[in-house]
Amino acid sequence: MNLDDLLLRMFGRPCGLLGRVGGFIMAHTKRTFTPWAIGLLEIQPGDRVLEVGFGPGAAIRRLAESTPAGFIAGVDPSREMLQQARTRNAKALRAGRVDLRQGSAECLPFEEHSFDKVLSINSLQVWSDTRTGLREIHRVLKKGGQLALGFTVHSRQSRTGLVETLAAAGFGEVRLIETDQGFGLVAKK
Ligand SMILES: C[S@@+](CC[C@H](N)C(=O)[O-])C[C@H]1O[C@@H](n2cnc3c(N)ncnc32)[C@H](O)[C@@H]1O
Repeated sequence: MNLDDLLLRMFGRPCGLLGRVGGFIMAHTKRTFTPWAIGLLEIQPGDRVLEVGFGPGAAIRRLAESTPAGFIAGVDPSREMLQQARTRNAKALRAGRVDLRQGSAECLPFEEHSFDKVLSINSLQVWSDTRTGLREIHRVLKKGGQLALGFTVHSRQSRTGLVETLAAAGFGEVRLIETDQGFGLVAKK
């Protein structure tokens, strides 16, 4: 197995033992980046928020803790990540405040106009079809809803063309924001 395959199995498409180790690492890093990316969304009390590619569920937990009156949903195709995220968010799941599903950005299992905010951190670069995934996010966002994408310096995501890709998927007011740990994009439906 080469380095690219190893990284893909640990972080990109977490699977098996390597995926479980990758999930552990992801859950215990980005301690300042994740709150920064969440902050881009300016979440209001009562907002319905979706995270695409939630990994081990650390951002889901932060979202649920910081939005007590809101509702948080997530999709991720990895069975290992679903298990870790469900364990990490067991209490909020039992309370019905969090809903985690196995699924992909390209085919979101939600009705149109379901969410006020959508977040995705270090995930878009491994989707099989970026444009379809972004069109799906656009579909499930309410009118005026906001999308935030976050990428750490380790994500291997290039900034080039991303603003144009979001605009082509139907988003407006697209902004690219730099931080010392990576960058983010915010956009509106
Ligand atoms: C590098 S991890 C990031 C996880 C988490 N967002 C974090 O920052 O810790 C990438 C995640 O995207 C998920 N993923 C891969 N392909 C996806 C797709 N097509 N749609 C949604 N998520 C996907 C993976 O299963 C993995 O959990």
